[in-house]
Amino acid sequence: MKILVVGGGGREHAIASALSRSGGNVIYAVMSRENPGIAHLAQDICLAPETDLAQITAFSQKTGVTHAFIGPEAPLEAGVVDQLSAEGIACVGPTKAAARIETDKAFCRNLMTEHGIEGNPFYRVFHNPSEAIAFVKDHDGDLAVKPIGLTGGKGVRIMGEQVDLNGAIRYIREINGGVVLEERLQGEEFTLQAFVDGTHIVPMPLVQDHKRAFEGDTGPNTGGMGSYTMTDHMLPFVTKKDFTAAFSIMASVVAALASDGYPYKGILYGQFMNTAQGPKVIEFNARFGDPEAMNVLSLLSSDLTEAVTGITEGTLSASKISFEHAATVCKYLVPEGYPGAPVTGRPLSLGRKGDALLYYANVEERGGILYTLTSRTLAFVGKGDTLAEAERIAEEAASAVAGSVHHRRDIGTAALLNRRIAHMKELR
Ligand code: AMP
Ligand code: GLY
Repeated sequence: MKILVVGGGGREHAIASALSRSGGNVIYAVMSRENPGIAHLAQDICLAPETDLAQITAFSQKTGVTHAFIGPEAPLEAGVVDQLSAEGIACVGPTKAAARIETDKAFCRNLMTEHGIEGNPFYRVFHNPSEAIAFVKDHDGDLAVKPIGLTGGKGVRIMGEQVDLNGAIRYIREINGGVVLEERLQGEEFTLQAFVDGTHIVPMPLVQDHKRAFEGDTGPNTGGMGSYTMTDHMLPFVTKKDFTAAFSIMASVVAALASDGYPYKGILYGQFMNTAQGPKVIEFNARFGDPEAMNVLSLLSSDLTEAVTGITEGTLSASKISFEHAATVCKYLVPEGYPGAPVTGRPLSLGRKGDALLYYANVEERGGILYTLTSRTLAFVGKGDTLAEAERIAEEAASAVAGSVHHRRDIGTAALLNRRIAHMKELR
């Protein structure tokens, strides 16, 4: 198929790379800055903001693509799927209305409540900052403060961790467009991504992401510093029962969206907190996770085109989708100072990457040299028969890069995994 990939990060490089593994595809790409990895795989690229529907449409018409795969959330919110569908292009990604499951946190929580779906924490939605502040004062302590709209994964403030009462009040005053205040959940986080064709839902291996910038889960929240999967596609602190509960929540959300008139087609990303009482929803995303896409797409052993056809034609079937039973570890290199004050425009040199897979993200290539930009730079994925093997491969490749970048050495290590398992044991 002739397929357009929208987006220019590590996630989209992984999508393009998986599409390129099947012989018959011709890939085109729209991205705001040239990603060297995607550019290498694409027949032609268009450098334009990922929300510029006019340029995306014009490029689609020029290239004659039949399909589009939308990577990030911003074009979904801008209505890229509605626009391309009107042009007769079959899209992997929800319409603007269905994408509200991610782009409008109040919509998501209310949909779950209205349809009686398990997994919501206690929450309240406020459009008036004074009322939100009064509520926070009454509930001194354990709340998560979330802007309703998109924030690039960096908008949440957890009281008692990142802000105190006064900090939460100051933050609420800064937010435009409403706030969701919700119970602070305690547990271990995991990601469940699924292919969805409006009705059918096919799950992918579970992944654990690492939001905090520094080792030991310290420092500010980031877009995600790295992630891992296990050979059995589960995580050692998630039981079969937890998995079934999380999957059932996602299936119920897909059914609720369809029955309310917003059928969901694309990748649905569920972020869960596994609590003493089972999985609770932290949020849904209307797309693959970044970095989580790099883990699961590196494991996909069936043809991604099969999933694209299933999603767009409503014929998705678990029997046609398979993942290797290997472990993966993904480590992102980020500029020194990221996320607060990233050092940009610094040259990087890659070392020996061994068996690691390399995915380019927010990096610029000039005259054959790579330079850092403001966001996550490159990711290495190690794949192995054990988590330890996958970690060693990713770590060796990541630490062989020279330049003003750093990465989390602890992601995928036994020490970190044992801490997660012990934490879950203590809660249950
Ligand atoms: P989000 O932007 O919704 O993915 O949230 C970013 C991070 O904030 C999550 O990965 C969690 O670590 C944390 N978080 C969000 N909501 C809650 C909550 N209700 N309770 C505890 N932690 C949360
Ligand atoms: N890794 C989290 C996200 O993509 O939102």
